[in-house]
Amino acid sequence: MTHSRFEAARKWLVFWTLFIGIGAVAGATEMLVDPSGKAMGMAAMLPYFQVLPFAEYVFQDFVFSGIALLIVNGLSNLTAAGLLFARKKAGVILGGVFGVTLMLWICIQFVIFPLNVMSTLYFIFGLAQACTGYAAYVFMRQESFTVDTAKYKNIGRDKTRLVVYFSRMGYTKRTAYEAADVLGADIYEIKATERTEGTIGFWWCGRFGMHRWPMPIEDISIDLTKYSHVTICSPIWVFALCAPVREFCIRAKGRIKEVDYVLLHHTQGKYLNAAKEMDDLLCLTHTALKNIQCRVGKMREVK
Ligand SMILES: Cc1cc2nc3c(=O)[nH]c(=O)nc-3n(C[C@H](O)[C@H](O)[C@H](O)COP(=O)(O)O)c2cc1C
Repeated sequence: MTHSRFEAARKWLVFWTLFIGIGAVAGATEMLVDPSGKAMGMAAMLPYFQVLPFAEYVFQDFVFSGIALLIVNGLSNLTAAGLLFARKKAGVILGGVFGVTLMLWICIQFVIFPLNVMSTLYFIFGLAQACTGYAAYVFMRQESFTVDTAKYKNIGRDKTRLVVYFSRMGYTKRTAYEAADVLGADIYEIKATERTEGTIGFWWCGRFGMHRWPMPIEDISIDLTKYSHVTICSPIWVFALCAPVREFCIRAKGRIKEVDYVLLHHTQGKYLNAAKEMDDLLCLTHTALKNIQCRVGKMREVK
């Protein structure tokens, strides 16, 4: 099995939810067992609570604080940990949300206590938990995104049309298959010979993207000259054409008769620069350009 970034992030989130949850339950138990706070050496902190609303009713001892800690940071995080163990999506979302809750909780401490190491540390823990939750959510969406090529039955019916694509995560692949299915076109995947998968692949691609380098690809194993029209589907890398498609266009120069482009990216941009670069490399003028904003698999055409 290939390395799963979601699994790694899920395990870290289990750690954070258990660490914060167990710590909060332990702290709350001590507060409820000895509401004066003397046993924990916290009695001297009670005066700081008196600036809070309704302090005369709820902050004369640690009963209310203990119950609040138990519910807001203790049982909440332990519930999220249980859901994460059960591999439920809700565990991922709640795990991240409770990181934010912890940061908000600590913000109250920042207001009422003088600046101190413990509050600062726990704020950082909350931030780390929230970021881990967000990463786990994104990785979960990315890894559950699949393209079922078998369902595109119309592909290959019109031998005059071709759809070419490069795709790291599968988003451009799905768009290309949809386009080819509508057109009845043949489909061809550009395959990079450099590493493009996973986190290391992402940074490696970023390097090629930043330098505007072409990325080596496998030999083009299809006769491009036999098609009257080619549609090129490409992701955007670092605000420009992605590196493997750049190399494809260099190699395909003079072999494509007519072309249009489909570009995928996170933003609402139209990336005319990428279309112009392909035109220049292919020595053609595109007949159409479509931009698709794609956020972890949710596609929307940019009008
Ligand atoms: C190295 C790299 C750089 C990227 N740079 C941009 C960018 O500048 N703007 C943007 O909107 N999306 C950017 N993206 C996001 C991709 O364009 C987007 O996720 C696309 O849907 C990926 O398609 P794929 O899964 O088919 O490879 C970048 C992705 C990678 C890997």
